[in-house]
Order: sequence, then C-alpha cells, then structure tokens
Amino acid sequence: MKDLTIDVSNVAPDVTLDMINAEKENVQKQLETLTNKTGKGNDFLGWLDLPEEISPDQLMSIEKTAARLRGKADYVVVTGIGGSYLGARAVIDALNDSFDQLKGGRKNPFILYAGQNIGEDYTYELLDLLKDKSFGIIVISKSGTTTEPAIAFRALKELLETKYDKDEVKERIVAITDAKKGALRTLADQEGYETYIIPDDVGGRYSVLTPVGLLPIAVAGFSISELVRGAKKMRELTAINVPFEKNPASLYAATRNLLYKKGKKIEILVNYQPKLHYISEWWKQLYGESEGKENKGIFPASVDFTTDLHSMGQWIQEGERTIFETVVSIAAARHRVLIPRDEGNLDNLNYLAGKRIDEVNKMAELGTRIAHTDGGVPNIRIELPELNEYYLGQLLYFFEKACGISGYILGVNPFDQPGVEAYKKNMFALLGKPGFEKETEAIKKRL
Ligand code: PA5
Repeated sequence: MKDLTIDVSNVAPDVTLDMINAEKENVQKQLETLTNKTGKGNDFLGWLDLPEEISPDQLMSIEKTAARLRGKADYVVVTGIGGSYLGARAVIDALNDSFDQLKGGRKNPFILYAGQNIGEDYTYELLDLLKDKSFGIIVISKSGTTTEPAIAFRALKELLETKYDKDEVKERIVAITDAKKGALRTLADQEGYETYIIPDDVGGRYSVLTPVGLLPIAVAGFSISELVRGAKKMRELTAINVPFEKNPASLYAATRNLLYKKGKKIEILVNYQPKLHYISEWWKQLYGESEGKENKGIFPASVDFTTDLHSMGQWIQEGERTIFETVVSIAAARHRVLIPRDEGNLDNLNYLAGKRIDEVNKMAELGTRIAHTDGGVPNIRIELPELNEYYLGQLLYFFEKACGISGYILGVNPFDQPGVEAYKKNMFALLGKPGFEKETEAIKKRL
C-alpha cells in the first residue's frame, strides 16, 4: 500500500540535497528530543502517541454519540475556534461533496460552524437558519473560557431551549473540554450534558485526533478509525528508527528551516483541489502558533490553485523573493470527468477532448512548478495517493510531527502560544470585564 511521499529535490539553488543531508545529525537530535519528551513544552506532547493510544472502545463511544446526533439533528453546529474547530473542518471539507449543501437525499446532518468569529451578522443569519430546523451542538473549548465560542454557544443554547424541553436539549448538546477546569466544564456538569475530555497534555492545534476532531468528523459520516489508522501509519513512518532520508517529517522540517535561513521567510501552502482549503487553514494555525515567537518563524500563508494563480500568481512569480511553496497534491481525483469534443471547436479546446480534467490540473501543477522554480520560488511537494480518511490521517500526523521537529530546530517551544493572550487582555479591558480594572485605566490613557 502506498503512503504519503515528499519531494525536496526542487529547492535548489537556495538549498541543495547536500545541504539537506548535512542537517541529518541535528534533525535526528531534535526528533529524539521530541520523541523522548525531553525538550521545551514536553508536558504538551500527548498528541505524539494519540494514534496508538486511542482504544477501539473510545472510538466506539464517539461513534455512538455521533449516531445519536445524526439520528436527532439535521444540522450540527460545531462551536469552537482555532484548534477547537479547524482540524474537524479541514477533514470534513476535504471529504465532503463540494455541493453537499445543495444536494438532497442526505444521510448525515449538515455540519455548520459557530464561535470561530464574533460577527454579529454571521450569528444572526445562523440563528435565523436554525430557528425552524432540527439541530444539535458540539461545543468545544479546551480552556472552557474562550470568548468567541462562549458567546455563540450562549445564543445557540438559548435557541435550542426555546425549541425543546430540558431532557431533549441535553440529548442534543455535547461538550468537549477539560476534565476539571473552565466555565464550560462547570456548565456541562450542571446541565448534565454528555462530555468528552481533551487530554491535559494535548494543545488545541494538536487535538484533531482527540474527540475535538473525531466527534464532528464521525457526525459528518466519515470513518474516524481509518483516519486514526492513517495517523498510526505515519507515526511509524516518522519514528526515531527511520533513517533521515526516508523520514518525511524530518526532511520537511530540515528543508523548510534551511530555506528560512536563506531568507525565504514565507511558506505558501498550495493545493490544486479547492476541497483542501481548510487543510491549509488548519496548517496555518499549526505552524503559525507553533513557530511564530521570539521574533522568529516562517510566516505561513496559503493559496488555492489554479484559482489563485489568477490573483496571486503574479506576485508569486515576480514579487519579492522571500517565499517558497509547499504543494499538497492528490495523485488522482476521486471522480472522472472527460473533456467533451465539440464539432465547432470555437474555443480551440479539441486538443484536450477525451482527457480527464485532472490531467489538465496535473499539467497546470507541473507547469507552475517549473515556472515558479525558474522564478526563484523553491518548491517542496507532498503527495497523497488518494483523498480519503486514511491518507488525511497520514497528512495531519505528518504535519504535526514535522512541526514539532521544525520548532525545535528553530529553537522555540512549539507547544505554547503566549502571544495569543495580548489581544484578549485589551479586549477584556475595553469591554470592562471584572478583574481588568487596571488594564482598563491603562488602555483608556492611550486612546
Ligand atoms: O492551539 C491553541 O491552543 C489555540 O489556538 C486554541 O485552539 C484556541 O485558542 C481555542 O482555545 P480553546 O479550545 O481553549 O477555546
């Protein structure tokens, strides 16, 4: 059976294969530090072993809860922000039919998202949609105190309570949070909601293989055991005993850090399948929050090609040479559509007649790689044999493992996010939150 592969042979002249190989010892040391849990942030490394440790009973319990929500609700609102929704959304969007929302005859509920912004119109429009619909809520917050999902949950819960009695509300809400701490834990215990726990040693952006990701993915009708099986395989493929040249996580971590040192400060994650848009969003959080600290870190950006070749393509081809690309490519599309022959051939497309659209897409990818590398944009390529749960499991674990190694190469703690608190403190001060009086005074003087 095939696995995810990585190609780092198109990053010259900035970085050569010899330069990558010269990193072997250092990278192996960082991989050992990560695996042996002896480095910075080592109390947040529970995610490393998740694929191995999730038991069939735990998966069955998640499936059972998912089946209950599926049976009751036509819409399930995943309410969370950052690591508390991006992993689920990445997998669900990658696997869903692109026109899912518009097609009838569905077996599984629509998955909607709330609490990932504080847009009042977004909230109004969501509540307006749900007011005469059968819906359920999966509310997710590790800290249990995050403002965005807390506001959204309050509004959604109120709506649910106007539609159903107390017992039915309880059946339709599942909370995923800390075992003991936080307002969401207190609320869930008081109201008697079913809960799942986010382990203490797993940070938000590394939590997709806990119930945080697994429950919404199961509700959407996708196989969480296949996802975990893929991650488990990637755990083996990136283990300490795998030689550097064969370890995709080590190769990726080494190459991107070498590029960074050569002035390539921005990494653009590229896909050629719009379904992967949220994989990029998840990846941006993973790498941005893990590495962007101590005034260091590659800036993670993303584009959807070929769409964005018609908007960002010019900049990428000829703008400031501070970027490199990492392409996530799917070897073959899931469905077949052949380009039809047309007698009139007014669009001059008959030279493509009978070819698969995916073949054109692949040539667009290759042509772009040649153009961009010629234009000074190094290219790393990751290939998945197919787009399914198993390979997405491989991809997610691969990126997580590489992120841990990469953060250690950079010399930062890839498992904390102290900078995220700065805006919150100001927002609370501006809103007059009790306990923030001193900050309110200080901020008032600045305005
Ligand atoms: O990775 C992280 O820790 C964060 O981005 C969190 O996922 C995000 O802030 C949401 O936090 P919480 O789950 O505590 O509501």
